[in-house]
Amino acid sequence: MKRISIAIDGPAAAGKSTVAKKLAEKLSYLYIDTGAMYRALTYLALQKGIDVHDEQALLTLLRDTYIELKPSDQGQLVFVNGEDVTTVIRGEAVTNHVSFVAKHPLVRKEMVARQQALGANGGVVMDGRDIGTHVLPHAEVKIFLKASVEERARRRHAENMARGFASDFETLKEEIARRDKIDSERQVAPLTKAEDAVEIDTTSLTIDDVVSEIMKIVNERI
Ligand code: C5P
Repeated sequence: MKRISIAIDGPAAAGKSTVAKKLAEKLSYLYIDTGAMYRALTYLALQKGIDVHDEQALLTLLRDTYIELKPSDQGQLVFVNGEDVTTVIRGEAVTNHVSFVAKHPLVRKEMVARQQALGANGGVVMDGRDIGTHVLPHAEVKIFLKASVEERARRRHAENMARGFASDFETLKEEIARRDKIDSERQVAPLTKAEDAVEIDTTSLTIDDVVSEIMKIVNERI
């Protein structure tokens, strides 16, 4: 059976990572959360007091930074230069700065090269904002997941509570809308649906519904 590439894009908190992880598990594929890579760099920049608007400083930092995504029983673990940052990169500080870091063309160029290297052999489910358009433009399956802002905020709120993070629904809604706006309006590789992607509105679907809808498409192409 052919080991294909599956690209999953969409706005913040649309369920991409949950769905991508389940697909990867079903297919025994590698799951690559590209948002975690931008978050990891943002975490390190904040730690080191590097301005998130300073492209050159961020690029220099990234070139010295080893980001590892390791599958584990609890999902994917994220390490930056050997430090486990899996939980801290989901916190408010990183979330509120990551879209500024991800705007810089030189940062994206380096990240995209790393992501393409990770996906070079196929057998991957990769999620992000520009996977179908830039990272894996030849992916056999491209999915664009969307959902209303209210529903996405509700899901993220529930997720935060489960993780023990402080969480306020209205603040989350604003944060998600702000991040979508920056991600959609940036000059380089903005959040957009690839022409050949299948769009799925997950607002009133369960995770399992979305996974089986995507599996139908996958089964036609492997
Ligand atoms: O997917 P997640 O919400 O963790 O992504 C965090 C941020 O990283 C996004 O809001 C976006 O600014 C950036 N990102 C990106 N391109 C990707 C993945 C994430 O610009 N492929």
